[in-house]
Amino acid sequence: MSALQKYPRISDMVMPAARRLPAFVHAYLAAGTGQGQAMARNEAAYADIHLMPRFLRGRVTPDTHCSVFGKTYSAPFGVSPIGLQSLIWPGAEKILCRAAAEAGIPYTLSTVAGEDVETIGPISDGHGWFQLYAPNDHGVMRDLLARAKKAGFTTLVLTADVPGPSRREDMRLAGAPIGSRNPMSITPRVFWQCITHPAWSFAVLANGGKFRFKNLEPYSSASALANITDYIGSQLNGSLTWDYLDEIRKVWKGPMVLKGLLHDEDIDRAVGAGMDGLVLSNHGGRQLDAIPPSIHRLADIRARLGDDYTLMVDSGVRSGLDIARAIACGADFVLLGRAFMFGVAALGSQGGNHVVSVLRDELENTMVQLGIENLTELRKVQSR
Ligand SMILES: Cc1cc2nc3c(=O)[nH]c(=O)nc-3n(C[C@H](O)[C@H](O)[C@H](O)COP(=O)(O)O)c2cc1C
Repeated sequence: MSALQKYPRISDMVMPAARRLPAFVHAYLAAGTGQGQAMARNEAAYADIHLMPRFLRGRVTPDTHCSVFGKTYSAPFGVSPIGLQSLIWPGAEKILCRAAAEAGIPYTLSTVAGEDVETIGPISDGHGWFQLYAPNDHGVMRDLLARAKKAGFTTLVLTADVPGPSRREDMRLAGAPIGSRNPMSITPRVFWQCITHPAWSFAVLANGGKFRFKNLEPYSSASALANITDYIGSQLNGSLTWDYLDEIRKVWKGPMVLKGLLHDEDIDRAVGAGMDGLVLSNHGGRQLDAIPPSIHRLADIRARLGDDYTLMVDSGVRSGLDIARAIACGADFVLLGRAFMFGVAALGSQGGNHVVSVLRDELENTMVQLGIENLTELRKVQSR
């Protein structure tokens, strides 16, 4: 049976992913924060958007190509940055970066990914974006950006919406060693979860048996995981300010987008500070449980900034139909986080390609049902 028959939607990969992952790992991927209300609202907000089809136009052949910052992509979606991807599924950075490069869509590497820019940049084949959590040490920021540029990353995604750690209660309940110096300290409970999930454990062993934050290892005095974790805690903790943003803007010469703003005044200020684009995002509902769905802010912000400003959106997107909904509401481009990781956790090395084909197929089919041929027409579809 083909993967498309067995897992025709992203939702069909959610349970297999949950079964294959130890509970503390699954909680890291799937959890929101607090009661999980922001995360639930994100998905509900998409389900509530209606699109108005037009008929009697004959059978259309949809073209999903689009251009962002002067580069053409084969479809208007890409992979959001996910920290510690290799904890969720060993080798996930390479799996997703390869799938994105083959498909001609962007892959965003997190500052706190398991792989480093030097490994992922060459695989990205010009489709790599680099996500920065601004480090307290400005010298580290400059060095990281120089390394990313040298490795071939084209676009900088600076994350604004993590002013401090989130409580992530579901992770605590699942036994994740939150607050411990070592995110993989092996409590008896974690050990039991690992041995009862052999597919994941064998994949970890095959990948070297270690979790690493490779981008950051050069800056920590010792590379042991506990030291790196302390280092991350001291460096990446709400250090971004408007002055620091100006400094980063001067250092990064290519296209730069700010991820996570939702407030009108913040948005005006970011545009004034020379951001080439914005990713409207609420971090997948992982930080503040009362935050509005980013898709609800899109129409107003589009009206505020005009048609030509590059606006992307993420948080809650689970299908090609949702991608179409976001574009009809004013987005130029859409990013997805958990959807890609559910695919990799469920299907391993085939997961990245499979998620891309599902999303592309759903998007094209949606365009056929709407009677539109390209994304310019999709932007004009009546939505409610
Ligand atoms: C497990 C996990 C780790 C994440 N790590 C990062 C990160 O390192 N940097 C970042 O900017 N956003 C991070 N995010 C947020 C995503 O980039 C993205 O905004 C979010 O996943 C979008 O929501 P969705 O999962 O509903 O698509 C993470 C999200 C998840 C689920």
